[in-house]
Amino acid sequence: MNPALFVAGTDTGVGKTHVAMALCRALRSRGLRVGVMKPAETGCHSDAPPDALALIEASGCRAPLDLVCPYRFADPLAPGVAAECEGRTVDILRLDAALAELRSSHDVVVCEGAGGLLVPLAGTIVYADWLESTGLPVLLVGRLGLGTLNHVLLSARYLAARGIPHLATVLSATQTPADLAETTNPGVLARYPESRIAGVLAHGLSPEFPQPALDVIIEWLKGQCR
Ligand SMILES: Nc1ncnc2c1ncn2[C@@H]1O[C@H](COP(=O)(O)OP(=O)(O)OP(=O)(O)O)[C@@H](O)[C@H]1O
Ligand SMILES: [Mg+2]
Repeated sequence: MNPALFVAGTDTGVGKTHVAMALCRALRSRGLRVGVMKPAETGCHSDAPPDALALIEASGCRAPLDLVCPYRFADPLAPGVAAECEGRTVDILRLDAALAELRSSHDVVVCEGAGGLLVPLAGTIVYADWLESTGLPVLLVGRLGLGTLNHVLLSARYLAARGIPHLATVLSATQTPADLAETTNPGVLARYPESRIAGVLAHGLSPEFPQPALDVIIEWLKGQCR
């Protein structure tokens, strides 16, 4: 099975899609067939889930929307909760099957979560539970700015406690101009090796994926192909 990685956030709106798109562009420009997945998207029209469509655009993935984003919900809630409100259920086996199919037809699959690691996905099953069962490693995304140190360290230590592989962390510059917290965030996180801080995604429409994080991911990919 070809490799896949999971883009987890420290929260909602921290830049997961922006970072995942930059990663897709970087991998695609290296000639890789990049597949994408957003297992569940909420607060969207079922024909037009914005994150899934943005990932498709950035990656050039041609898989059908039902495979890329099997579950779309109108309510802007955690997927497990949105499903409950609509009287539907998220079937983990369907997610596993979609992921497997995407992995079989692409060199690498980039899969974006929703919110943070403990967001309900299906009933009481949270994203981290699904993640653990898939064995996918994590690219953690945090927001550059005040509050991120706590969020990144909590998420990184939680991944370590669960034994979920953590490849790297990227902070996304969701806003400009930079404030004092933003300029100090990367250096402070670097003092905590478990943060695996590996760069900042600059503010912009289509910024370059940070090179140190890309180096880690390319190394990991090479290891998967050996
Ligand atoms: N590096 C960046 N440069 C400019 N804008 C950014 C950057 N990162 C994030 N943003 C903006 O911040 C907002 C949130 O980003 P994004 O949608 O990527 O977050 P997310 O974590 O994927 O959110 P969700 O939890 O809804 O999936 C968006 O409006 C996005 O355009
Ligand atoms: Mg997103």
